[in-house]
Order: sequence, then structure tokens, then C-alpha cells
Amino acid sequence: MSGMVQNPLNVVPDKSDEQPAPNHVNGSNGTNGDAEKSSTKTSRFDPHFTDAVINATGPKANPRLRKVMASLTRHLHDFCRENEITVDEYMAGIDLINAAGKWSDDKRNEGQLLSDIIGLESLVDEITYTLAGEAADTPTATAILGPFWRKDAPKRKMGDSIVLKDMEGSDHTLMHGRVLDFNTGKPIDNVEIDVWHTAPNGLYEQQDPDQPDMNLRGRFFTGPDGEYSFYCLKPTSYPVPNDGPAGKLLEMLDRHPMRPAHVHFILTAEGYKPLTTQIFDREDKHIDNDSVFAVKDSLVVDFLLKEGDSKAQYDLQYDFKLISYEAAKKGGVEGATQVAP
Ligand code: BEZ
Ligand code: FE
Repeated sequence: MSGMVQNPLNVVPDKSDEQPAPNHVNGSNGTNGDAEKSSTKTSRFDPHFTDAVINATGPKANPRLRKVMASLTRHLHDFCRENEITVDEYMAGIDLINAAGKWSDDKRNEGQLLSDIIGLESLVDEITYTLAGEAADTPTATAILGPFWRKDAPKRKMGDSIVLKDMEGSDHTLMHGRVLDFNTGKPIDNVEIDVWHTAPNGLYEQQDPDQPDMNLRGRFFTGPDGEYSFYCLKPTSYPVPNDGPAGKLLEMLDRHPMRPAHVHFILTAEGYKPLTTQIFDREDKHIDNDSVFAVKDSLVVDFLLKEGDSKAQYDLQYDFKLISYEAAKKGGVEGATQVAP
């Protein structure tokens, strides 16, 4: 991992209070892919430049990639024209992207984190979820994956604990419920439930040399009754990593890095659309101001005090509802999320 951030955000002073320059185009964001409506039409900058860049794409380009890149190019060019981005500001942006790359490795995904703090992953999640919802009502809501999922978490038996080490300030929770078919209400057999969350010190195990490998992670498999249960901790709120470029940007935007307490899940089952989601503790003081904008009302839950269980102080009952590919296809969703290679 790299050392200090090399001031990747060395932007020049804000000019927004100054008088606009002659012919200044104010907010003409014609970024819907229509060249006529683009700011190039009335801009004092070369009106043909953006089209020339877009038209350089060759005939063999994948159609989805062609469409998405043309749109991205037009939005970015319009953004630069409208804000009159200077070379210094452009270089500050490039430095930020490069710094994010240098800070990233198999334990840290600074690029994704940067996108998270400006709400991009949550927006894309909402778009994807809305497309799925148009197929047939709404199964359990999705939420962003975030950068801390690890593949191959240990397979565990129903009722096991994912807590491999007791840490100060940890309250244990018995989480349990069923996984149901959203359309039929029937339990789903052999669902893999991949779960992970932070320790009470706010760190995921791969961030923390004092935690055992794969602490607070596990994969559980339902039986024909669709039921699941496991012990975990009552989660705590924590800051997204803020010692790198994304943290610097948050600071410059006068924003906090906190995420409300949550537990992550990926549910997969044969014949069903996979579900990536999180559940959030209603009592958390950051529930209304998540630094990565991922909270959805239907994912906010109540941890109830539990009596008579020597292994847990809290109880959380939660049923997941998955949508089958068959039901999703009937709603015409197939292909709606197809992306370029
Ligand atoms: C997380 O919940 O693990 C997470 C999500 C987005 C950015 C950082 C962390
Ligand atoms: Fe998280």
C-alpha cells in the first residue's frame, strides 16, 4: 500500500462567484446523447470536438459499449465545458484516480470506495433493483456489495457462530429466519447465505492483523424448510477507510466517513436471481446519513433483547425473499442489465 496521499485534490480556487465569461454557457447539460442539445451547440469551444471523438469508434465495437462510451464521453465533455475545467483541475482529477489505483490491492479497493462516497454504487444498485422490480413486484431489496467481500468464506453448519474471537464491546446476536420464493411464498432449499460484518473496532478481518483469518464471515446452506440460523455480533457503525484518496475527498467536501451498523449478505440458489444486500440497525445514529448512501427503508431492522440464551444477548428474525429467473423473465427483465465485456 502506498504511503501518504500526494495531494491528489489540488484544485484551483472556486470561481463560481465570479462573473461568467462572455458567451458563458450556464447549465446547458444536453447530455442525453443528442448532439444538437449538447452544450457544444452554443459553447464558444469547438462545437465539433465531442462528435469527432465519439465518431472515432470503429464498426466492430460491441453495441452496448459503443452506446455507453458515447454517452459517457458526451457527459464528461459537457461537464468540462460547463465548469470550464482547467488543465490544473483536470490533472488533480487524474492524480486522484491514479492515487486510488496505487492504494488498491487485494485487501483494499480504493477505486470502488471513491465511487461509493459519491453514491455511484448505490445509484447503480437502485437502477438494477428497479429493473428487476419492474418484472414482478419487489423481492428483498438489494444493497451495494462494498469493497470488503471475500470469496471462499468458510462453509459452516446451521446454528454455528461466525465469531472466531471475542473482542471488547461485542454483543452477540442470534440471527434466524427463512428464505422464501417471492412469488409462491414457499421455502427455498439449498440457498447459500454468505454473511460478513465488521468487528466492534470497526474493522473487517482483512484490515486487522489482530483478527483471525475469516473472522465474522461464513457461508450457510438452507435445507428444504428454507430455514437458517447463526450467531454473529450486533454490528457497530464504522468509518469507511479514510486514510487515502477517498478520505481526503470526504474531508475536502466537509463530510463524515461513517456507515450505520450493518450486516452484509449474498444469497445464491439454483434457479433464482442472486441477492446482494445489507441489513441495518434502526437504532444506529448514522441510519439517516450513510456515507455511501446505501440504506433502504425495507432493510432497516430491529435487534431485540434476548433472554435465556447463554450465547446471545440479541435476537434478529429476518426472512429473505428471492425471485426465480422464471418469474423475472416473465416480466421481461432478461438482458436489461447486460453490460459490455
Ligand atoms: C461496506 O459496507 O463494507 C462498505 C461499502 C462501501 C464503501 C466502504 C465500505
Ligand atoms: Fe460493510
